[in-house]
Amino acid sequence: MDELGLNKLFAGILVAGLMLMAGIKLADVLVPHSELTQNAYVIEVPEGGTAVAEAPKATGPEPIFALLASADAIAGEKLAKKCTACHVFDQGGANKVGPALWNIVNANKGAVDGFSYSGALTDFGGQWDYAALNAFLYKPKAYISGTKMNFAGLKKPSDRANMIAYLRQQADAPATLPTDAEIAAESGG
Ligand code: HEC
Repeated sequence: MDELGLNKLFAGILVAGLMLMAGIKLADVLVPHSELTQNAYVIEVPEGGTAVAEAPKATGPEPIFALLASADAIAGEKLAKKCTACHVFDQGGANKVGPALWNIVNANKGAVDGFSYSGALTDFGGQWDYAALNAFLYKPKAYISGTKMNFAGLKKPSDRANMIAYLRQQADAPATLPTDAEIAAESGG
């Protein structure tokens, strides 16, 4: 190969090299490196806790406010047979294994005269409003861990609504029913 041929060859290699570099630069511009802003795997860590697998949450207690207005207090009275081994519902009824439950809706928790409550219940505080009764009657020991009420709970929303409708009637003046706004708030909308 003569000198001119060699020069052409080198020029060719040079141009090819330049084009390659230009190509890489161009690719850089066209396809910008996207920095990963998040971990590709999102690891859920509960706030203030460590990432341990938690037991699946129980589904209940389902909302019952909307059911209360049309709940059946007579059916509730029948359900109350599940309670009467331990509770009296009548006005002036005495404490038994559990406290007397006349006037219980909206009463302070753990406040029936002369009944010896568990520390768990008296420490819990608050009133027996509809939401508290719904949660407690769904599963007493889940709502107040350490309560000495040995009762599995009423799993059916309609049972709890009927039961609470009956409790509401066992009072000097039945508590007002939940408002539309309260019903909406309870069911998360
Ligand atoms: C095996 C006995 C037993 C049965 C059955 C039972 N309870 Fe109770 N209940 C108790 C005891 C004991 C307490 C007090 C709990 C404590 O001090 O931790 C209690 C507490 C309560 C309270 C809270 C009272 C307060 O003054 O704070 C309510 C409300 C209640 N029971 C409703 C019911 C209803 C409604 C049923 C039936 C669906 C029922 N219970 C079934 C024993 C029972």
